[in-house]
Amino acid sequence: MCGIVGYLGKQNTKEILLDGLKELEYRGYDSAGIAVLQNNNFSNFKAIGKLINLEEKTKNFITNDFAIGIGHTRWATHGKPTELNAHPHVGESSYVVHNGIIENYVKLKKSLENDGVKFLSQTDTEVIVHQFEKNLKASLSAFEAFEKTIFELEGAYAILLVTKGENETIFFAKHGSPMLVGINDEDEKYFASSDTPLIGHATQVNYFEDGDYGYVNKNEIAIFDKTRTKKEALFTQIATNRLSAQKDGFRFFMEKEIYEQSDVIADTLLGRLSEDSITFNELDPNLFDGINEIKLCACGTSYHSALSASYMFERYTKIRCSVEIASEFRYREPLMCKDTLFVVISQSGETADTLETLKMAKKAGLKTLVVCNVDNSSMVRLADACILTRAGIEKGVASTKAFATQVTVFWMLSIYVAEVKNTMDSQQRAKQIHLLREVPASVKVTDVMHERIKRLSKRYLHGHGFFFIGRDIFFPLALEGALKLKEISYLHAEGYPSGEMKHGPIALADPELFTIALLPQHLLYEKSKSNVEELSARDSTICAISAIDFDKADDFIQISTCQDYMLEFFEMMVAVQLLSLEISVRLGNDVDMPRNLAKSVTVE
Ligand code: G6P
Repeated sequence: MCGIVGYLGKQNTKEILLDGLKELEYRGYDSAGIAVLQNNNFSNFKAIGKLINLEEKTKNFITNDFAIGIGHTRWATHGKPTELNAHPHVGESSYVVHNGIIENYVKLKKSLENDGVKFLSQTDTEVIVHQFEKNLKASLSAFEAFEKTIFELEGAYAILLVTKGENETIFFAKHGSPMLVGINDEDEKYFASSDTPLIGHATQVNYFEDGDYGYVNKNEIAIFDKTRTKKEALFTQIATNRLSAQKDGFRFFMEKEIYEQSDVIADTLLGRLSEDSITFNELDPNLFDGINEIKLCACGTSYHSALSASYMFERYTKIRCSVEIASEFRYREPLMCKDTLFVVISQSGETADTLETLKMAKKAGLKTLVVCNVDNSSMVRLADACILTRAGIEKGVASTKAFATQVTVFWMLSIYVAEVKNTMDSQQRAKQIHLLREVPASVKVTDVMHERIKRLSKRYLHGHGFFFIGRDIFFPLALEGALKLKEISYLHAEGYPSGEMKHGPIALADPELFTIALLPQHLLYEKSKSNVEELSARDSTICAISAIDFDKADDFIQISTCQDYMLEFFEMMVAVQLLSLEISVRLGNDVDMPRNLAKSVTVE
C-alpha cells in the first residue's frame, strides 16, 4: 500500500524525504515521487519502479536551509503505475500526496472538468489538489480552502498538501489511512505513514485519529477533529527498533497481517458497494455475456479462496463453476469451451503454474479474469480483466490477509454477477451488501480471542495429526486452516469435509488425533455437530470453533453470535490463523519464513 512522508525544517529535505520513503519500501510500491518548496520555488520529481530511479533523477537537486517537502510511494489502485499517475499530483501552484481511495472522485472530477480543469493522471488523488485550488479562489485563506476540500471528500485518505501562497506550512488530513507527525527540539516536523521513517529524527510522535486535519508550520501544530474543533496533539515517545516499527510492534509480520485484515478488507470494499448494487469500475459490463461456466484456477491458499468462491458463484449466480489446481490443470489436457470464463487467483500474480494456465486459456480463446494483489504483475498484464484485492504487501510466507481479501472480492463478484444474470433480487442483494459491510468488524482480533488461543495452543504441540473439518464453504476454510498449520508448525494437518470423515479418516481417531471442528451456527449446524460427535465418541481430542458452546469438545474457541454464516466464516478464519501462529511460536519456528517455503513460486 502507498506510503507518505513529509518534512518541514532546515535539514537536507531531499535526503530526509528519500530516506523516509526507503523506510516505507516494505509496504510495497510501484512508483515514487517528491515535491519540495524552497525559496518559493517548487521542485518535483517522479519515477516508476524502485526508489533508486528516483534517487538517480534527483541526484543534482540540492536542498539546504529551510524547505518543506512531501513524498510518496504509490501502490497502484486507480490507473497504471506510470510516471503521470505517480504522486505528488500538481495543480496550478500546489502539490498533494494521498494514501487511500477517494470514493466520490468521479463526481468531483466531472464537475472540475466542467469548470475547465485539465487532468493529467487517471488517479482519484488528482481531484484533491484541483478541488483545493478551486476552493482557494473563493476562500480567505489556504487553510479555509483545505478544510472545505476535506469535508467534500468521501472515502479513505491520508493527505499532505503544500501550496505556494503558504510556503512554510504543510496541510494534512487523515481518515481511514494511517499517518503520524513527529517533532524534535529543532522545530522540525516529520510526517509518515508509520513510525520507521521518523526513527532517529523525531523524539515524539502524535498518531492522528480518523477525522483529524490541520496544518503545521515552524511554530505550531494545529489539529482539528471531525466536528471542526481544535484539539491537542497527544505526543508519545517514538519506538527505537526499526524492524519492530515495521512490524508495528507485532512479533511477526504474519501476526501484523492477521491484525491488518480489518483495514485491508475495508480497502477492498471501498468504492465498490452501494445500497443494493456492487460496482467494479475495472470490469467491462459485457464480461459475463455468453458465459455459461466459470472455471477458477490457482495454487496454495489462492486455490482455497477459489474453492470458497465456487460455493458463492453457484449459489448466487446459478452459473456452473469448477475449481482447478493449476499444476494439475496444466498437464491433463483439459477441455476448454469458449462459453467459460477462466479466472486465475494469485496473491503475487507470478506463480508459474497459475500463469501457465492463464496462457493456455488465452490460447484457447477463453475470456480471462485475474483476481490479484499485485498490479502490473505478469498475470495482471496478461488477463483480459483484473480485479485487485488491495491487501497491501504481504510479507509472511503463510498467506493471511491476501486470502481474506480474495474471499471478499469473490463474495462481491458473485453478487455482481447475480445482478448481471438476474439471479438475485434487489432485496437479497441489499442484505448481502449489508453483511459485506460487517466483514471488517468481524475480522477484528479481540484480546479475549487471542489470549484464549494463546493459552490453549500449548495442548496442541504433538499428536499424530490434525484434522480441520467443515461443511459447505467451511470445507475450504478447513483446508486453509490445515495448510496454515502445516506451513508454520511442520505438524501434519489435513482439511476434510466433516461428512466424509466416516469414510476413512475416522479410523485414525484416538486422543492423539486433534480435530479442529468448524461449527457455524447458521449453516448445517446440526449435521456438522453430528459429525463431530462421531469423532468425540471415538475419543479424538476436539477443539470446536463456534458461537454455540459444545459440550462434547475438549476445547472451545468462542466466536461472536453473527447474523450470517459468512460472518462466521471470517471470524473463524481469524481463529484458525491465530491458532497456527501460536502453535508455531510455541514450537520455536520461524513464523515469517518457514523452512522449505517461498512466498512467490516462479518455477513449476
Ligand atoms: C506459495 C506460497 C503460498 C501461496 C502460493 C500461491 O506456495 O507459499 O502461500 O498460496 O504460493 O501463490 P499466489 O501468489 O499465486 O497466490
